[in-house]
Amino acid sequence: MYNYMLSRHCFLLTICLKPRRIAPKAVCSVSCYTGPDHGPDADPQLRERRGANKNQVTKRRRKERPSCQPVLDNFDQQYSQELGDLWPSARAVLLDPHSWQYGVMLNRFSAVTGITQILQSQGFYTLLPQNSVSPLLCNDFSTISNSKHQAGKDSPFPPDYISKFPPNDFPLQPDSSSHVLPQDLKSEPSLSLPRSTLQCYIHPYPLHFPSQAHRPGQLKQYYLLNAASLLPVLALNVTDGEKVLDLCSAPGGKALAIMQCATPALLCCNEPDPHRRDWLSKTLESFLPPSLTSRVTVSAQDGCSFGQSETGEYDKVLVDAPCSNDRSWLYSSSSQQGEQRLKDRARLPALQAQLLRSALTAVRPGGVVVYSTCTLSSSENYAVVDSVLNDCPEAEPEDLWEEIAVPLSKYFTFSHAHPDLDTPQKPSLRPLNGSSSSNPRRLGILVVPQPGRTWGPMFLSRIRRRK
Ligand SMILES: C[S@@+](CC[C@H](N)C(=O)[O-])C[C@H]1O[C@@H](n2cnc3c(N)ncnc32)[C@H](O)[C@@H]1O
Repeated sequence: MYNYMLSRHCFLLTICLKPRRIAPKAVCSVSCYTGPDHGPDADPQLRERRGANKNQVTKRRRKERPSCQPVLDNFDQQYSQELGDLWPSARAVLLDPHSWQYGVMLNRFSAVTGITQILQSQGFYTLLPQNSVSPLLCNDFSTISNSKHQAGKDSPFPPDYISKFPPNDFPLQPDSSSHVLPQDLKSEPSLSLPRSTLQCYIHPYPLHFPSQAHRPGQLKQYYLLNAASLLPVLALNVTDGEKVLDLCSAPGGKALAIMQCATPALLCCNEPDPHRRDWLSKTLESFLPPSLTSRVTVSAQDGCSFGQSETGEYDKVLVDAPCSNDRSWLYSSSSQQGEQRLKDRARLPALQAQLLRSALTAVRPGGVVVYSTCTLSSSENYAVVDSVLNDCPEAEPEDLWEEIAVPLSKYFTFSHAHPDLDTPQKPSLRPLNGSSSSNPRRLGILVVPQPGRTWGPMFLSRIRRRK
C-alpha cells in the first residue's frame, strides 16, 4: 500500500523518519555535497534512506525549519543584482519548501503501467514527447504486480487533496472537483523536442508522489526529482552505443536519467566521496537490471584529474559540478554552518573550472561536455564556462536557448538576464570578457524557480570539443 505525503499545511502520512541528517564527508576540501534535489527534507530519496527500514506508516506534522539568515542576506545582495526582477519571486519559492514541485521519472526497466495510470488520474502529465519504451530493455526483475497498482485503487493521494490546498497558494488555480489542467498545460508536451524514452511526469501543484522503499531483488518503478535536473541530460543527448562519463555522479539521479534515454556502450559514474559513492551504487542497483552491470561502472577518482588518466576516451561527459546548492544552503543547520559555506563558496569556481577542463580532456575530439550546477550564482555558472573557454581554444560553446529553453518555456522559467560582462572580477575568476562574450547566451541557460514553476535552480551549458 502506498503511503503519501501532502505538502502545504497538511499532515504528512509518510514512512517513519528519524530526524537525522546525513552529513557527507569532504572531498577536495570544498563542502558542497548536496545533490540538486536537496533541501530541508526535500530529497525524497534521502527521506526514504532515512526511513527505509521502517515500514510503519505514521502521521506527523512537517517540522518548519527557519532559513539561515547569513545565507539569505548574501543571496539577497548577489541575486538581486544578477537576476533583477526575477529574484524576489525566486526568493519566495526558495523560502517556501511547501511550494516545491517534484517530477516523477519512470524507470523503463521496471513495469510502470499501473503507476502511469495513477499519475494520469491524479493530473500528472508528461514533460517530454514520448517514444515507446524499447521492449529489449524491459525485464522481469520488477516483481511488483501491476494489478496491485490499478488507477483509482491504492491511490497515493486522498480524494480531497486538492481542497486541502488553499487556492491562494497557487498562481495556477486548481479546479477542486476534477483534475483539470490549466489551459496552456493541456496541450501536447513540447513537440519541438525529440521524442524520448525518458518519461517524467510533473504536476502543476506541489503534490509529492511517495518515494519507494528499497526492496532487495526488485527494481524501483520511479525516481523523484527536481524536473530541471533532467535538462542537462537532455542537452547531453546520449545515443545508443556511446561512451559516457558522469564525472560527479552521486547520488545518481542524472545517471539514471541517461539510462532512461539510451543504452550507452559504457556509462562511467565517477564519485570520489565514499559515502556518496555508496549511495550512488545503491541508486544504480535499485533502478538498473543486472544485465546492464557491465555497461554501468562506478569509479572513485578525483574528477579534476580524470581527464589526464582517460584522455579523449568518451563521446559525452556530464559535469554536474559541486556548487553552492541554493536550496539546501538556505536551510543550513546553523548560522555558523551557513557562514562557513559562504566562506568556502569563494573556492568553488576554481574547482568547477578544473572539473570542466578535465572533462574537456576526457572527451574525444568532436564529443560533447555538458556543465551544470544547481545554483543561481553567476560566478559558478557563466563565469566558469567563460573562463574555461578563454583558455581552451578547442572548446566551442553551443546555444541551448532554441534547443531547450524555447521548447520547454511552458514549464520552466529561464532567465533572460545576461551575465554582466563588465562586472568586477568574480571570486577566483577573471571578468567575463572572453570570445563568447558577444553572445552570452551561448555560455549557458539558467532555470530560475518561480511560483507555480518551482523547478530549478539549474544552470546548463554545452561545449563541443572541436575535431
Ligand atoms: C551536484 S552533486 C552531483 C549530483 C548528481 N549528478 C545527480 O544527479 O544525482 C556533485 C557531486 O560532485 C562530487 N564531487 C565533489 N568534488 C568532486 C571532485 N573533485 N571530483 C568529482 N566529483 C566531486 C560531490 O561529492 C557530489 O556528489
